[in-house]
Amino acid sequence: MSWWKTAAIYQIYPRSFKDGNGDGIGDLAGVRAQLPYLADLGVDALWFNPWYPSSGADGGYDVIDYRDIDPEYGTLAEAEKLIAEARALGLRTIVDVVPNHISHLHPWFQRALEGHDRDLFWFRDHPNNWTSEFGGDPWTQLPDGDWYLHLFTAEQPDLNWTHPAVRQEHEDVLRFWFDRGAAGVRIDSAVLPVKDPALPDLEAGRPHPFVDRDELHDIYRSWRRVADSYEDPRILVGELWLPDAARFARYLRPDELHTAFNLDFLTCPWDATRLRASIDTTLAAHAPVDAPATWVLSNHDVTRVVSRYGRTDTSFSFGAKKAGVPTDLELGTRRARAAALLACALPGAVYVYQGEELGLPEYEVPTDAIRDPMHFRSGGVDPGRDGCRIPLPWSGGSPPYGFGATPTWLPQPAGWDGLTVEAQDGAPDSMLTLYRSVLRRRREFSGSLRWLDRGVGVLAFARDAGPVCVVNLSPAPVALDGEVVLASGPIEDGFLPVDTAAYIRIDL
Ligand code: GLC
Ligand code: CA
Repeated sequence: MSWWKTAAIYQIYPRSFKDGNGDGIGDLAGVRAQLPYLADLGVDALWFNPWYPSSGADGGYDVIDYRDIDPEYGTLAEAEKLIAEARALGLRTIVDVVPNHISHLHPWFQRALEGHDRDLFWFRDHPNNWTSEFGGDPWTQLPDGDWYLHLFTAEQPDLNWTHPAVRQEHEDVLRFWFDRGAAGVRIDSAVLPVKDPALPDLEAGRPHPFVDRDELHDIYRSWRRVADSYEDPRILVGELWLPDAARFARYLRPDELHTAFNLDFLTCPWDATRLRASIDTTLAAHAPVDAPATWVLSNHDVTRVVSRYGRTDTSFSFGAKKAGVPTDLELGTRRARAAALLACALPGAVYVYQGEELGLPEYEVPTDAIRDPMHFRSGGVDPGRDGCRIPLPWSGGSPPYGFGATPTWLPQPAGWDGLTVEAQDGAPDSMLTLYRSVLRRRREFSGSLRWLDRGVGVLAFARDAGPVCVVNLSPAPVALDGEVVLASGPIEDGFLPVDTAAYIRIDL
């Protein structure tokens, strides 16, 4: 069985994981020092958010040089060591690639500014009616009068994927990292790179000029050929924000991407009917293309799960973030614990975003400390994504909580002393202990999913092998039959309390 079909993959946001040299910024030395922590957690692979030289306009998603490491994080030689050391501990490495755009400081764009090879990008003498993914105008005018397209910030000019050099360069970059031992790539904004070359106005009823264009599939097929040319084949993981499950699954055909993030599950509210529908739709969409599903509860772009689940509206959407609304973190944490059991029992791969295993809440960063361009481009309406990117608390009772030195690049809140790795390590009821247990238990599951009826509001299912998973989203405790092997909270007299999950052994 290929490892990636059932892998648990830990997402590292390098800037906020661990600071090895005491400048308040996470780095590769910090990650290397904590590899035993990651191996011990029980994951199979690490996905690194971009670690390349960048102007920092969008948290590293503005790449200046794909073949190097940002000096704030370390060196290429260190990255090579990290990949090898991680592998020796059983952890594979996935790197991030960002095909839609590069940094305005990348040599290609610098040359374009001087008037050379502008056809590597989208230069026009007038803008169109498109909107930036971060809000506002996706066109910026240069002093010479020409406009260039950037679906994100002005520091992230979009590449022209009809240009052969763009295709060639990205395939070379894949080989560069695969040759250095990377086990795969995560493909950023994977439904956006191809544009209708006429750049027509966006009009209802017409094919979308830049989302999910059919031409993308040919590009990913050639990436797949690169990945498959390695003896230990490398994997391609897509970030596909697409509401239509059938369109989503087309990217997972056998000669395209291996897997993609399940963002539908991530945005789903804490509601049994909705979650079950999301799980069923996911499994049904993946079956015909024979691709494994993935289960994602959080990442570096969305509100932390314990905060989401502690609100009246537990769904997530970029357009309606709920900063400032009342949040019951105790409730959210109870649900997040149950959700961890759910996600880890489902067929396919699972992602854990750094800090999820510590139950970190969203931190509403003081306005003057906000870094995220999403906030600025929204005219200050959107709180941005900094609140889920806070430097991790490792130890101690106050900032920097063992992260490195203060000031940390984003401020940490007071009151995280109980959430540090040190405080949670070995504590029987901590989120960290739960994640360690659930990631171990997860290996017992295999085969397909079969729903069991345990009443309204209860998600219960068996797999071909492994315990039965029962999640109680109903308003009352439910009776459990069988032996409990793991539970997200205390079982009361044989009853599974509200917002609690358990793995049980029953003879069915
Ligand atoms: C993806 C990334 C996000 C980034 C954007 C532009 O959605 O996950 O963090 O801002 O692409 O690269
Ligand atoms: Ca550092």
